[in-house]
Amino acid sequence: MIGIIGAMSMEVEGLMAALTDQTEETLCGLRFVSGKLSGVDAVVVKCGAGKVNAAMCAATMLLRYAPKLIISTGVAGGIGKGVKIGNLVVAEHSVQYDYDTTAVGEPKAGVMVCDELTVELPTSAAHNAVLAQYAQDIYNGVHTGVIATGDRFVADSAFCEQLREEFGAIACEMETGAIAHVCAANKTPFCGLRAISDNANEDGDVDFHTFARDSADKCIALLKASLPSL
Ligand code: ADE
Repeated sequence: MIGIIGAMSMEVEGLMAALTDQTEETLCGLRFVSGKLSGVDAVVVKCGAGKVNAAMCAATMLLRYAPKLIISTGVAGGIGKGVKIGNLVVAEHSVQYDYDTTAVGEPKAGVMVCDELTVELPTSAAHNAVLAQYAQDIYNGVHTGVIATGDRFVADSAFCEQLREEFGAIACEMETGAIAHVCAANKTPFCGLRAISDNANEDGDVDFHTFARDSADKCIALLKASLPSL
């Protein structure tokens, strides 16, 4: 079983529609749709935006379905040099950039995963390689790098610069770091997959509304193609 989590309807609807032998149930107010996607056992859910929604969803999915892999999918703001709208970012790791206990001497974004202070929340390198390989046929640019997660829609180029400098981030969004945290605590392989809908700058709002659906559709195509090889 592979678990797929997206924040918004446009990020998961196409996957839910493609599931055969469907069953569904609602847990913690979230609709989990399971079945076969490209012949592979899968469960797909819309978690809603933000870290709390994402973490609640991931924990529920793990306890109920025990997936061998969880993938966070959807759109993001591209902030790395050369990371363009319509490109794909595969997370090498993610950070929760807005977690800040520096006032008591801890590193910025240093979250406790079980009892370990962790800044870089890991992803599965082996699965990332498969996703990046399939992505070459779908995207005109595929990047592997840091995804910065926080409870904010970023539309501010100065803040993007800060995320680049502090964390080496190439994309920003609102869920991946939270799902990664839950997966790390449960020792479950995890991947973060984000298609770029905007550049998180002052045009971010307009670009997001113009390009998000197209970018989300490309993630759906990638997952359909790659799932049998994961
Ligand atoms: N998802 C897509 N674009 C985003 C942005 N600019 N900030 C946060 N999340 C996003």
